[in-house]
Parts: sequence; structure tokens; C-alpha cells
Amino acid sequence: MTNPHGHDPSTSRFPEGFVWGAATSSYQIEGAVHADGRLPSIWDTFAHTPGRVHRNQTGDLADDHYHRYPEDVSLLADLGVTHYRFSLAWPRLQPEGYGPLNGAGLDFYSRLLDSLREHGITPWVTLYHWDLPQSLEDAGGWPRRETAEHFAAYAALVHQRLGDRVPHWTTLNEPWCSAFLGYAAGIHAPGRTDGAAAVRAAHHLLLGHGLAARALREQGAREIGVTLNLAPVEAAEPDRAADRDAARRADGLMNRIFLDPLLRGAYPADVVADLADVVDLGGAGLVHDGDLDVISTPLDFLGVNYYTRLVIRQGDDPKPGRPTPWVGAAGVETVGRGLPATAMGWEIAPDGLHRTLTRVWREYGPPPLYVTENGAAYDDEVTPDGRVHDEQRRAYLESHIAATHRALAEGVDVRGYFVWSLLDNFEWAYGYAKRFGLVHVDFETQRRTMKDSGRWFAEITRANAL
Ligand code: FCB
Repeated sequence: MTNPHGHDPSTSRFPEGFVWGAATSSYQIEGAVHADGRLPSIWDTFAHTPGRVHRNQTGDLADDHYHRYPEDVSLLADLGVTHYRFSLAWPRLQPEGYGPLNGAGLDFYSRLLDSLREHGITPWVTLYHWDLPQSLEDAGGWPRRETAEHFAAYAALVHQRLGDRVPHWTTLNEPWCSAFLGYAAGIHAPGRTDGAAAVRAAHHLLLGHGLAARALREQGAREIGVTLNLAPVEAAEPDRAADRDAARRADGLMNRIFLDPLLRGAYPADVVADLADVVDLGGAGLVHDGDLDVISTPLDFLGVNYYTRLVIRQGDDPKPGRPTPWVGAAGVETVGRGLPATAMGWEIAPDGLHRTLTRVWREYGPPPLYVTENGAAYDDEVTPDGRVHDEQRRAYLESHIAATHRALAEGVDVRGYFVWSLLDNFEWAYGYAKRFGLVHVDFETQRRTMKDSGRWFAEITRANAL
């Protein structure tokens, strides 16, 4: 039996042309933070503020990818991936967030694109993976409307220079993290804890996305999309009304506050009502006439990043003043259930990926989907045989690729799967303590070692089948 997308669900094969990729982001791998005119981003500032990142580690050197990219591209070739998803560092390309592009920054990405082309690997470029130029944060950051306009101007300039060589453009990576971890929970840069600012940031990130998408469209960009981190949200005790309502709120703040304006052109009414005491997401002060039309500019694809499901309860004793990403939802908490988890403490829930893909497909009728990130952290070590025997990561990936295949077999138009990540790297507030790579990095020597999971993934990409 073949479904409309030409996929035969009776085998574990993937459709012809299915995109197999690996993903990284600029601040997590590049290092070279002072090279060639780059200025600080909010992540440089945050990481250099004592107490913000595990052991006060920073991305100053990271994987030194800025200098070692040829080796990293040949690792991608070893993995047999057809596509490489990476982000451009805004503070490298436009150090202050406005004005002309920095030629030396462009040269670096040109060299990287040349190297990818030589290896037959298609670039999948993200314009913003969290490294806002510090000068724009000093002027107010994402809570300020002008930041969205600066972002669109930057996107247009970059596309003018690199557009002919890059077929797939992603505006933002995970605006939920930028807005709610960065401005409400304060555990990501810029480390602010102001719920209203976080909601304003979310709106301006979406607006920046829409303005950038329009600018790129006008320039004839081939494919434009955005990447969201989505998760199914469940009530800890489904019989408890308070838990069910907490789960609704968390789903609203994590998934629907982004999906609805992007794909339906409106903020969800329940979320607007929930947030009414914090900020007016329904009124004209924040959301100007026409904003939602811009935000819902048609997309060519939607990127889905998936790691785990969320189990939510309504705590009995909301602690006023304690920073939380759940703005306007005092007492909403995530619950661990002691089930098998990765080194992040994230429950291993492959079914959640299947549910996420099918839900988005059925409820939103979106453009084609790509799993733009999925992966797992484990405490990997290079053993005396010179290998990294990361069977747990291999099993995690296998179960999630199978979940993707199941969604495909049920008619969901999912066209690709990218592993997070190519390399062990700077895992934000966890510094170098959490290893997500298919390739192990010794941060003392910068030596790269393909893990067993990477060897296994190379078999999958070449067979185009599980
Ligand atoms: C995602 C981020 C990515 C990485 C993974 C583990 O939220 O997009 O940069 O940190 O989580």
C-alpha cells in the first residue's frame, strides 16, 4: 500500500529524497568570539556573568569550529547526511545588529558553504539561534518592537549575499526558549525575569519572523520556514481538574502561542485571557494592526524540535516571585515521574514525537514538516579501544526515527530528520557538561571521535531505512 506521499508503510524505508541531517548552532560550536570583527552577543555577556552557566563556562572556544570547519564538514560526509542545519551568528555578520554586513563574517560562511558544496551536502541555514547582538539587547532586546525590524533588515542583507547558495532558510530557532527562558525564567540569556517582557518578546520574535519571511520571499528565496520546540502536554493527574487546566495553560504557552498566529493568524483566545493580567496580547498596544497578517505569511516548511513530553501539575503552593517560564500561570509545574530519562533528566518518550507530528498535521494543516532537532545527552567517554560506545543514544535515536516513520505511514507529510547534534558542544546553561553529539569532542584537545551512534546513523542515512 502506498500513501499519497509515495511512502510504503509496510517497510521501514523512507521515501526517496527524505532529508537526513545533523544540526548545530553558531554560539554552541564556533568559538572565535573576538575574531574578524565579531562583537558580543547576549550569550557572551550571560556566560561571562558569574553564576549563570555551569562552572562559569563560556562559548569563547567551544568546538573551535570557526577554524576547524573543514574537519567538521568531512565528519558530516562520513555520516552520509544529505543536509546540514547550522545557524549564522548575527554578531559576526552584523556586529551591532544594524548597519552594513561585516565582510570577514561573510567570508567565513562562504568558506563553510564552499566546503559543504564540495562534499555534496545541502545547507539548511537558521538566521537566529539565540545570539542577539548585545547592543540590541542594550537598546531593549526582543521586548522592544524595533528589534523585529532590525532582524528583518539583517535577514534581507544576508539573503542578498548568500541566498543563491542556500536553498532552505529558517528564520528563528525555538522562539519559546528565546522569549520564556530568556526573559521570564531567566535561565537563558539575557537572564531577565519579567513575565510581561517575555510575552512582548514572543510577539516581536514572531513579528521578526514574519517580516524576515516576507523580505526573503520578495528576494525569491527558495524555501522559508521557522523551527518551534513542541511537546505534547499531559496532566499529571488527569482526574484532577486543576491539573487539566494547568496542562491546558502550559500547552497554550509552549505550543499554541506560536502555532496559532503562524498557521491561523490569531493568538489563541484562552491564552490571551490567561495573560490578561500580565500583558494585553489582544489589544493594540502590543499587537499592531496587520501584525498577525505578517506573522502568518505562508511558509514552505515548519521545523519541529522534539526532545520529550511534558507532564504538568498545578502546585498547591505557588511561590510568588519565583521565576518561571509559565507566565501568568502561578503554580504550574513540570513533574518528573522517575521514568527512564537522558542525562538532561528528560523522559525518553518517542511516542511524544509521533503525537506531536500527527497533532500539528491534523489540527493545523501546516506546510511540510521536518524534524529539525532530536537527540539525547549521555555521559559519554572515549574507552581504551578509542571508541565511544553510546548504545543508549543509538536506542534513543532509533526509537524516535521509528516514531517519525510511523507518522509518515499515517499520512503526515514529514520530509526530513536532523539529529541534534553533529558535535558535543556548549549546551547553554549546562556549559560542556551535557554531550549531545554523534561525534565526541575532547574539549582539552579539540580531538573529534565518531561515536558508535554516529556509525550507526551513517548506515541509516545510506540505506534510507531503519
Ligand atoms: C534545543 C536547542 C539546541 C540544543 C538542544 C539540546 O532547545 O535548540 O540549541 O541546546 O535543545
